[in-house]
Amino acid sequence: YGNETLNRPLIHMTPTYGWMNDPNGLWYDSKEELWHVYYQYNPNDTVWGLPLYWGHATSKNLTTWTQHDVAIIPPANDSGAYSGSIVVDYNNTSGFFTESTDPAQRAVAIWTYNTPESETQYVSYSTDGGYTFTNYDQGNPVLDLNSTQFRDPKVFWHEESQKWILTVAKTQQFKIAIYSSTNLTTWTHESDFEREGYLGYQYECPGLVKLPLPKNDTTSTENVLSYSNGTLVSNNTVPAETDKWAFFISINPGSIQGGSSTQYFIGDFNGTHFVADYPNTNVIDLGKDYYAMQTFFNSPDGDVYSIGWASNWQYSAYVPTDPWRSSMSLVRKFSLEDFQANPETRILNIKSTPVIDYDVFNFGETFAYENETLNTNNTLHYDLAKNFDGLVEFNLTFTANSSAYGNHDFAGLDLFLRGDMNKNEYLRLGFGANAAAFYIDRGHTEVPFVSSNPFFTDKVSVNNQPSEYVTNEITKYKVYGIADRNILELYFNDGSQVSTNTYFFTGGNFIGEADIEVAADGVFEIEDFQIRQMTL
Ligand code: FRU
Repeated sequence: YGNETLNRPLIHMTPTYGWMNDPNGLWYDSKEELWHVYYQYNPNDTVWGLPLYWGHATSKNLTTWTQHDVAIIPPANDSGAYSGSIVVDYNNTSGFFTESTDPAQRAVAIWTYNTPESETQYVSYSTDGGYTFTNYDQGNPVLDLNSTQFRDPKVFWHEESQKWILTVAKTQQFKIAIYSSTNLTTWTHESDFEREGYLGYQYECPGLVKLPLPKNDTTSTENVLSYSNGTLVSNNTVPAETDKWAFFISINPGSIQGGSSTQYFIGDFNGTHFVADYPNTNVIDLGKDYYAMQTFFNSPDGDVYSIGWASNWQYSAYVPTDPWRSSMSLVRKFSLEDFQANPETRILNIKSTPVIDYDVFNFGETFAYENETLNTNNTLHYDLAKNFDGLVEFNLTFTANSSAYGNHDFAGLDLFLRGDMNKNEYLRLGFGANAAAFYIDRGHTEVPFVSSNPFFTDKVSVNNQPSEYVTNEITKYKVYGIADRNILELYFNDGSQVSTNTYFFTGGNFIGEADIEVAADGVFEIEDFQIRQMTL
């Protein structure tokens, strides 16, 4: 099952060989029109270990990736170039660049230098468009708290205050420190955002980004009441709020799904302090395999694009792939939406949209069903092409009628993905009608790792919402899925909720003579079911 040609995802970025964890230094080079992704990399083994480098890959289309030589080399063999970020220093605020480096390529990396004694923040810069970096030896470390738990700096340019802002984790104190700077090397501590949301064992990999409010958001035109000459008047002159800030914090271990995951807060940032709108937090991906999410610096139009590490520290060192371990998630574009139909109880939610360049594919057969009643007597079955290469997307929209399954202990709808090597093995997207919830069932495999590892949870549930309440009894559900060899990304309700999970079959993965089937225990109306096969 470690077979490379059967197992390696096609459009989820993987290192050629060696170990990979967090995405680092995501940035867009507007001169070359090239996306850069770096990552925590151990080229010497398929498990995490020192020395730890920044691996490097680029993409023109955010769908297919080219690997390059390591970009940041840790200064000592028992040390690590831990997670961090890259900014483009257009105006040469750092003074690192001469005229000869194009302003769009003035890449400055800020990362954690981990040694047995301490974690401090280092700065390096690149004069060749992000392929090699020079450490700022005169000034490193630029931040040193005499701590062993101080890491993962993420920097962005704050237009309003005309300053660089850095967020960095004081991990086991459950604090994210916020610093500001005008030159990327001298940093002033502004505040700590602390002890909010899920804590777990530690905070890691913070990130703060601005997102526009939904266009039709009713609360974006503030209807403020005030007193004028002793009379209460309505005052509409207060400028409408147009943006919100999202604060991402990864926690590990101890996330709600178990192990590692990334949570976020929605609120306001004034250049020094972040204040959350709600005390509660939200998880950006409800699956088991999405961690250390980071956003791109300098993406076109200021849109927010992100990547997560598609694994979980609970079992990442044991998954059966060789000669590499781990892949990244697809790139996702984030936007804000009102989660509740009722604007009075607005809760802002981040919606994720996968970024896929469909021009790079050849499309195999497609398959579509419309308005079909599914019950215990029939199934929707589809055999994938004989040369199926492991990449397929599907859309499924159905309604569940609670009066139709009232007496069942468990009424459900199941979507199965089966590979060809062993027909007892399958991945299932289940819908439990009485619980009104989806779950991913990845336990039906004979790969020894799955049964021997207690943390590779065989069922992962999704706290989904219906896409529509059609009547009191009838609710509609909508899911888009993309399966790529050993990883399934599911987007519920156009990305209002996402669940990313890896899965492993013997003798290769979801590839070859594979099939997809939808079966029901109960009665369900399939409004729409489409499958599309893709080849690179
Ligand atoms: C998160 C993390 C970071 C650290 C890096 C080390 O997965 O633990 O906090 O910088 O991995 O590889």
